[in-house]
Amino acid sequence: MCGIVGYVGHRDAPSFLLEGLHRLEYRGYDSAGMATLEDGVFSLRKKTGRVLELGGLLKTDPLKGTMGSGHTRWATHGQVTDINCHPHLGGDGEVVLAHNGVIENYTKLKAKLVALGYKFITETDTEVVAHLLAHHYRDQKKLTPENGPKENATLALEHTILMLKGTYGLAIMFRDLPETLFVARQGSPLVIGVGDKEFFVASDQTPFRGYTNDVVYLSDREIAIIEPSGFEIIHRDTGVTAPSITTLQNVSEDSDLGDYPHYMLKEIFEQPISIENALRGRLDEDEATAVFGGLNLTAQQLRRIDRIVLTACGTSWHAALVGEYLLEEFARIPTEVEYASELRYRNPPMSDTTMVFAITQSGETADTLAAMRECKRKGHPTLAICNTVGSTIAREADGGIYLHAGPEIGVASTKAFTSQVTVLIELALFLGRMRHLSYPAGRRLIRQLKDMPNKVRQTLECHDKVKQIAEKYAGFNNFLYLGRLYNFPVALEGALKLKEISYVHAEGYPAAEMKHGPIALVDEKTPSVFVVPQGGIYPKIISNLEEIKARGGPVIAIACHGDEQIAKLADDVIFVPEVEEYMQPIVTSVPLQLLSYHIALLRGCNVDRPRNLAKSVTVE
Ligand code: M6R
Repeated sequence: MCGIVGYVGHRDAPSFLLEGLHRLEYRGYDSAGMATLEDGVFSLRKKTGRVLELGGLLKTDPLKGTMGSGHTRWATHGQVTDINCHPHLGGDGEVVLAHNGVIENYTKLKAKLVALGYKFITETDTEVVAHLLAHHYRDQKKLTPENGPKENATLALEHTILMLKGTYGLAIMFRDLPETLFVARQGSPLVIGVGDKEFFVASDQTPFRGYTNDVVYLSDREIAIIEPSGFEIIHRDTGVTAPSITTLQNVSEDSDLGDYPHYMLKEIFEQPISIENALRGRLDEDEATAVFGGLNLTAQQLRRIDRIVLTACGTSWHAALVGEYLLEEFARIPTEVEYASELRYRNPPMSDTTMVFAITQSGETADTLAAMRECKRKGHPTLAICNTVGSTIAREADGGIYLHAGPEIGVASTKAFTSQVTVLIELALFLGRMRHLSYPAGRRLIRQLKDMPNKVRQTLECHDKVKQIAEKYAGFNNFLYLGRLYNFPVALEGALKLKEISYVHAEGYPAAEMKHGPIALVDEKTPSVFVVPQGGIYPKIISNLEEIKARGGPVIAIACHGDEQIAKLADDVIFVPEVEEYMQPIVTSVPLQLLSYHIALLRGCNVDRPRNLAKSVTVE
């Protein structure tokens, strides 16, 4: 949520900043802004709307400079207006800063600053930080006039962040320091890209592609003072810290759209490959198990685990629900799924033999990170199932499993979900084989897993059919999504996909729960999307479907090829290949992704940048 970029060095800062903002736009896209220091004065450009709009403004009214910062906003405090766009000036223009996060005690701080005579022009929490910093800098100059501006600015920043409650990633410039960029982090990600006599700063490493592969991940409570000649990191508790430079191996090139009109469609169609990547090198046919390189736990520790907690948000939470069924069925380990936003403040009894998995595409979701830290604090082995290499959660977890799905840019998560489910099947196989799962059963699972990319390829052949169905139903304003067992989380996920990108109300339910209340919603204007592939309880879910039909509700069914019964019962059917029940979410979720994509398009919505949302939710 909110993306920050910064630059100091020898090149034209605005060009890098603008490109970086485009790459970070998935983090927030209601407005964007940029600041540089020109001839001893900060110049700012700000514009509501997409980064494209800011680019237009910069064409007519360019910025110059070899140091600057930029910001793409997801509004938390204050309306989406030009004036509320970051960066924000402090004092009488002594400092300028861009902020990602939320300052929880800003009202109190603002009252103090107003009493001291500072004038606020925005409704943001961030402006408080800018004025506070300017205030401390002025104080510091009086207190230690013998210091140079860099020392005083550093002290001012240290004083300022001690007074802040909440989360921040900050990129800061001081008017007195034309070649010094300051950054600070608490709870919101910040990465420094190390170049040759130049440095880049961003909320994640994507803006560095084509500039540098060497990065330093800033940790919480750290500030960095960056100049073209070098940089220094200071930790609030331990002082100056030796930076650890990571060289990124595969700075991914596949964040371009290619021939696809939208990232979401591209990512849906990438699933055969992303699933293949989640499987690559992880299936050991001789031992009939899965192998993971980074769990960082001994076999003895793993065998002691007698309970698993999966924690996540949104789509990742739905994948976790599938994981619960898988881990209990194959590994026979009692598993619970917790919303990270709840777990972080709850105190459920958890024994020291409980293992926690944080599941996250971005690795930056604030609630998931906080829940993971809380579990770590209590001494549980805490692992991550994560897509984004080098993200905060990936770095802070005791160990984990990467999805290797490649960058997911569309706000609606698609390929990450099917990769998460794939990894959870591998995990169930791995833990199962350490316990009760037989060799033949392990071999069977491996065979089926290896066939999944192919099955998804076949599933994608339903695209034209889904398009037709979307045309028929795009005008409806309420949908129900129903499934049972492994397809109950798929129903939840299908409903979430439709809600978030087409703004159509949709509810996901276990099909049999309908009769306990929601069936009252059914009428001819409320279609039900039934996920009803073949399986042990197929006849039961058919009865649930008949109950809807009896009440005049239109039914769209997701069913297996060759299912003649469903063709007679449902109004419309999307056929998918038959796979084992525990693998079904990987295929049944695909037509639901496509359905929401096409309904959103037909309703004129921006599928990749739905209103009010951002790709990574780095605020609470
Ligand atoms: O990056 P994460 O997996 O932690 O994100 C969790 C949710 O914010 C995310 O899945 C969200 O629900 C998606 N927009 C759903 O499509």
